[in-house]
Amino acid sequence: MTTFRSETAGTLGRLNHVGIATPSIARSVATYRTLLGATAIGEPFDVPAQGVRVCFVDAPNTQIELIEPLDDASPIAGFLRRNPAGGQHHVCFEVPDVHAAVADLKAKGATVLGEPRTGAPGTPTVFVDPRDMGGLLVELMEAPVGHAPA
Ligand code: CO
Repeated sequence: MTTFRSETAGTLGRLNHVGIATPSIARSVATYRTLLGATAIGEPFDVPAQGVRVCFVDAPNTQIELIEPLDDASPIAGFLRRNPAGGQHHVCFEVPDVHAAVADLKAKGATVLGEPRTGAPGTPTVFVDPRDMGGLLVELMEAPVGHAPA
C-alpha cells in the first residue's frame, strides 16, 4: 500500500498524555499516589516559557501531566480562576511530524494556536484551537524518537 505524505501528516497517533491543571502539584501527586496507587511519579520541573511547573505521572499506557501555574500570568492561572479545584486541561496525541500536521490542519481550515515549540516532553508540540475540536484543547506532539507509532 502506498502512503502519501499528505495522508500521513495529520495521522492520529498514541495518546501521549492527559494534561491536568492543578493548584498544587504536591497535593495532586499525593492524591494519585494514595487514591489511585500511582508509583511512577517524575520529579516536577519548571517550564518558564509557558509559565508552568509540570510533573508526569506514569500510567501503563499513557501519562498524566500535572500542570501548576508559576505565576498569575500563566494560562493555567486563568484556567484555575474558572476551575479552582483544577481539572482536565488538554489531551496530547502523537503525530509523525508536527510541522506537517500544522500545514495539514491549516489546509483543512483549522486553527492552530501559535507556532510549534518544544514543550515539556522535549519534542515539538502545538495546540489546536478547541473551537475546531468540539471544545477540547488538543495538543499534538511529535512522536519521540524510538517510540513506535501505534
Ligand atoms: Co501537554
